[in-house]
Amino acid sequence: LANGVARVPPMGWNSWNSFGCNINETLIRQMADALVSSGMRDLGYQHVVVDDCWFNPNRDAAGDLQGDPSRFPSGMRALGDYLHARGLKFGLYQVPVDRTCAQYFGAYPGATGSQGHEAQDARQFAAWGVDYLKYDWCSPNGTIQDQVTTFAKMRDALAATGRPIVYSINPNSIHAKTGPQRNWGDVANLWRTTEDITNAWDTGQSNGYPMGIQNIVNVTVPLANYAGPGSFNDPDMLEVGRGGMSDTEMRSHFALWAMLAAPLIAGNDVRSMTSATQTILKNQNLIAINQDSLALQARQVSGDGSRRVLAKPLANGDVAVALFNQSGSTATISTTAAAVGKSGSSFTLRDAWTNTTTSSTGTISASVPAHGTVVYRVSGGGTVPSNTGTLVSAASGKC
Ligand code: DGJ
Repeated sequence: LANGVARVPPMGWNSWNSFGCNINETLIRQMADALVSSGMRDLGYQHVVVDDCWFNPNRDAAGDLQGDPSRFPSGMRALGDYLHARGLKFGLYQVPVDRTCAQYFGAYPGATGSQGHEAQDARQFAAWGVDYLKYDWCSPNGTIQDQVTTFAKMRDALAATGRPIVYSINPNSIHAKTGPQRNWGDVANLWRTTEDITNAWDTGQSNGYPMGIQNIVNVTVPLANYAGPGSFNDPDMLEVGRGGMSDTEMRSHFALWAMLAAPLIAGNDVRSMTSATQTILKNQNLIAINQDSLALQARQVSGDGSRRVLAKPLANGDVAVALFNQSGSTATISTTAAAVGKSGSSFTLRDAWTNTTTSSTGTISASVPAHGTVVYRVSGGGTVPSNTGTLVSAASGKC
């Protein structure tokens, strides 16, 4: 979406994966403080997104949204001020239908969705200093055309406020489970590609709910054409640091999200991170690949169903190459500089995890553990003018 924001994928933290409805202003402030003290803010994790269940179940007499008075007693404007004073940005959750997901499933009272209140709510968000809106179609009803019309209504209402606000949508409750039915780049900055992520490598549910990491990768890799500055596929928030996966799998998850130009929205409790978690979330090589100004999503260059090679051209002419082993045992995965769009005979490969460099005459290869992903930044040789590699269908990428 050409609204001037999210020219590269947004980074930040969201309350949902770890806390669900159990949120309050003290918790959010503690997370904000931890983003600062851990150094994550300075690496780019700036959006603090308060997900479902922040609101008073009743609008006020003027029909305006209000924060829940018991859990956000200082009010939402004060929370925005707290974040802004620390160099962070303020994200909030809302829905385009009548009830939020928690309200729909009976976990929270009221019916405070923005349906019929779009302009009023957009003005309210702007007045609170909101920088990022997560707008979640949590209803089995409606058609794709209803969604386009309704999501566009909030896009226009946000634009009318004059405040730059990242617009993140989730159209998946009525979508096919295998990915979005359309390119949402004309409507939003980010659009979810699948059902909710879960804290597991593989749920065996490639086409349904809940989705594990590799299930989401299978759906999102073929969508590379949709991504570019201001418009990104959103394979959902990070599960790094929440248990449920091996260290290798968590590293793979982060590396693949970086390659896919996905928003990097941490979902763990950043107040208490192990050093392994911090090493993953703070990997500067991968963050640089994710935040590259060309803002391209990696394409699959080759793959035999389990050994997959993805390439992401970068603004300075380098190419990031991921060797992703989707099989259950260690495998050697190889490609060449020519196959990822580079010409010449002398290259440097920087390993994003070890931060070591090796020289190469063109072979790019590694022994990759089961479920692992090795990422090289390939420098030297001729530059690649645009994205290379072929689009694969979701089915051919399936393990
Ligand atoms: C569904 C979304 O996919 C989740 O990320 C979260 O926002 C919940 N709704 C909140 O109810």
